[in-house]
Amino acid sequence: MARSTTHLQKHLNKPGGLSYHDLVETTRTLIVGGAETTATLLTGLTFYLLNPHRSSFNHSPRETLNTLTTLLRQTFNSASEITVAAIQTDEMAYLKACVNEGLRLFPPLPGNLRRIVPKSGKVIAGKLVPGGTRVAVDVLSANLSAENFTLPDGFYPERWYHELREPGQFFERDQCQVVKPVSLISCLSAAFFGFGQVMLIMAIVLSWSS
Ligand code: HEM
Repeated sequence: MARSTTHLQKHLNKPGGLSYHDLVETTRTLIVGGAETTATLLTGLTFYLLNPHRSSFNHSPRETLNTLTTLLRQTFNSASEITVAAIQTDEMAYLKACVNEGLRLFPPLPGNLRRIVPKSGKVIAGKLVPGGTRVAVDVLSANLSAENFTLPDGFYPERWYHELREPGQFFERDQCQVVKPVSLISCLSAAFFGFGQVMLIMAIVLSWSS
């Protein structure tokens, strides 16, 4: 039986192709860095869309899910129309806000991402920290702190709308800049696609599932 050979296999370890070492490292990045993180966020996001914790504010249960599905079904007529470019438009701000709120409540890396203070030391939060010290912010604690968010345990995509964080508005004191799901250095997905892979999957699933 004829076996199809991929471009990668044909050029492996050849001049101009990937070396075996490069292949292993790239695969590690895609699987460890890309697949589990994406799957975890999709799991959390689906949970919150199906079980919104609506203790107050002006929403009825399922309103977020209904708003999102209506937006998607009114915007796209078929799955082929849902592309990374199409879901990055201003029209899709609600989808983006849902993904951001999912990243806040269910960050795929919920612990802390350590950084080493430069040799000269650094003033952090008003205190001089000696060089060589490992420092970190606990992601989940910051994301769920009532000091940073109104109704911190609730799934409210609305808090990501700038106008609702202005004086007199419900989420006025929310500190959305606290949410750093990929830490201070940028991850490939966040930098190039704005978590486009998560938005794309969510958009396709919600557009055609009833
Ligand atoms: C929801 C999805 C994702 C989350 C939450 C996430 C999270 C992160 C985090 C927290 C880091 C920084 C680690 C650190 O500072 O120690 C990171 C880096 C990185 N991520 Fe992601 N990631 C996601 C999706 C992806 C995908 C889909 C890819 C690739 C296809 C990817 C590739 C990378 C790479 C290459 C780095 C290292 C960047 C560098 O060292 O400059 N990530 N990611």
